[in-house]
Formats: sequence, C-alpha cells, structure tokens
Amino acid sequence: MLSLLLVLTASAGDPKIGEVLAGLAGCEGCHTEEGGKPFAGGYPVETPFGTFYGPNITPDATGIKGWTEADFVKAMRQGVSPENKSYWPTFPYPAYTQMTDEDLGHLWAYMQTIEPVANEVRAHDMRKTRFELGVWRRLGFTEGGRSWEIETGEHARGAYLANAVAHCGECHTPRNMIGIPKSDLQFKGHEDPPEPSPPITKQELGWSVSEFVSFLEDGWAPDGDVVGGQMGHIIRDGTAKLSAEDRRALVEYILSR
Ligand code: HEC
Ligand code: HEC
Repeated sequence: MLSLLLVLTASAGDPKIGEVLAGLAGCEGCHTEEGGKPFAGGYPVETPFGTFYGPNITPDATGIKGWTEADFVKAMRQGVSPENKSYWPTFPYPAYTQMTDEDLGHLWAYMQTIEPVANEVRAHDMRKTRFELGVWRRLGFTEGGRSWEIETGEHARGAYLANAVAHCGECHTPRNMIGIPKSDLQFKGHEDPPEPSPPITKQELGWSVSEFVSFLEDGWAPDGDVVGGQMGHIIRDGTAKLSAEDRRALVEYILSR
C-alpha cells in the first residue's frame, strides 16, 4: 500500500512546482560550489559545529544516481540515508520533515530534471561526534512534525512556507549550546557564525505587511537597502517566485509571532 502511494505521488509530481519549492528551500545554495555546476556539491557550509560540504545531489554515480523516490522521501522526512545512516542537521531536514507528501513529490520530480555531473565531494570537517549527533536527534528532532498545522490555525499556510520549506528560523532564530533553535526567541536574530542574521519580528523590524511583502518580491528594504548574500538568493529563487497570496501568507505569519 505504501509503495503504491509513493508510485502515485511520483507520477503526480510537477517539476515546475518543485523548482519553486527548491528555490524557497535553498537547496541549490548549499549543494553548489562557487563556480561549480548546479547541485554537484562542494559548497562549504560553515557552522559552529564544523564545516560541512554539501554533497553532490545530481543523478550521477558520484551523486545520488540510483535513488528511488522512497529513498529521497526518507532522507527529507527522517534525515537518514538509504543505508540508514543519520544525516547531520546542517542538511535542514528538521524543517523539511514537515513538508507534505505532495510537495516532496513535486521536489523529486524537479530533481529528475537536474543534469548529472561527476564530482567527488570532500569529507566534512566537523568538531562533533556521531554520539553527539545521536543526542541531538533525540532532543532536537521530531520526525514528520506538523507544527505549522497544529499551532498556527489561520496562519497555517504561512507557517508551512516559513517553517517547513524556507526554514527562515534556521537562520533568524538563535540556537542553544547543542544547536537547537530556541523557540521562545523565534525570529529574534543572532550574531553567530557563519553570518549574523537580523531579527525579523514585527517589533524589531517595524515593517508593515506591504513593506515586508515587497522586500520578499525584489529584495529592497523600506530604507532603500538592497539585500545580498544568502538572503538575496532566497528572495530571487524562492519568495519572488511564489504566488502573491503565498508571499502575503508568509509575511502575515511572521509578523504574527
Ligand atoms: C544549509 C545547507 C543545506 C540546504 C539548504 C540543503 N542541504 Fe541537502 N545537505 C546538506 C548537507 C551538509 C548534507 C550532508 C549531510 C550529512 O552528510 O550528514 C546534505 C545532504 C543531502 C542529501 C543526501 C545526499 C547523500 O548523498 O546522501 C540530499 C538528497 C539533499 N541534501 C537534498 C537537499 C534538498 C532537496 C534540499 C532543498 C529542499 C537541500 N538538500 C537543502 C546541506 C544542505
Ligand atoms: C541561510 C540563512 C537565511 C535564511 C534561510 C533566511 N534568511 Fe533572512 N536574512 C539572512 C541574512 C544573513 C540577512 C542579512 C542580510 C544582509 O544584511 O545583507 C537576512 C535578512 C533578512 C531580512 C532583512 C532584515 C533587515 O533588518 O533588513 C528579512 C526581512 C529577512 N531576512 C526575512 C527572511 C524570511 C522571511 C525568510 C524565510 C522566507 C528568511 N529571511 C530566510 C539569512 C537568512
């Protein structure tokens, strides 16, 4: 029954929708080296826990050739490899675990359109052990959680886009000692590496809904500054391509926190 369902989602996936989801989720950024081919890996993701190199996720033998949709859904939902090895949460599966089956199907359909590229990516350079990863998984990871649905009521759609897909809080929320975002300080910003991220709450930002919506459309802040870096990518490949209703839902949710 389960495999039948997966086959059905596979044929229902729309790569165009998947492309927008991938842009919003920032997949390409972490999985593409400066000057390298899209999704062929090698980008260094610096964290307080070490430097992680985004793997090659193109359908090449040095990438994820041979993966089934079920393998992909398992990686995104459970944070484990086809061989059941736990992934480091630098891969933001604590967010993606909350994505719907339907959207994972669209993402997978899009990933089928990526050109295979041969590229061996170097090993991670981390300062944590797999034991610590196990502790983190027990304390900081809830497989398949649906917080956007349960806790947020009328803001469910915006919460889904912000928390399950775009993981705005992974950057804009401070973390505790073992790297778990502090829920009571959601969206309050921080000064930690790799990049300080400003607070984006209503109180601290002081932007109206329409100012915030227009920032997510073109990257211009109300004071005339243009945003660059990671945030610039998220806007260009992600929030700028959302429907107007989705962009507004995202903003209304964040400003409701
Ligand atoms: C913040 C950086 C980051 C983002 C954003 C990100 N990833 Fe990753 N991803 C990683 C890292 C780092 C790993 C390796 C984790 C490990 O080795 O434990 C990884 C692992 C993976 C793997 C497993 C590859 C393998 O060979 O086992 C897949 C598949 C994957 N990511 C797909 C995606 C998709 C699809 C998206 C967007 C929805 C995405 N990633 C977004 C950093 C990222
Ligand atoms: C990969 C990390 C990352 C993610 C994910 C991320 N941001 Fe950002 N964001 C940043 C950084 C870093 C800056 C500061 C950029 C700068 O100053 O050039 C920023 C800037 C901003 C600003 C401007 C704040 C100001 O005071 O000018 C807003 C608003 C914002 N982000 C909202 C969001 C929203 C909404 C999401 C989710 C859709 C999101 N961000 C996802 C890293 C991130």
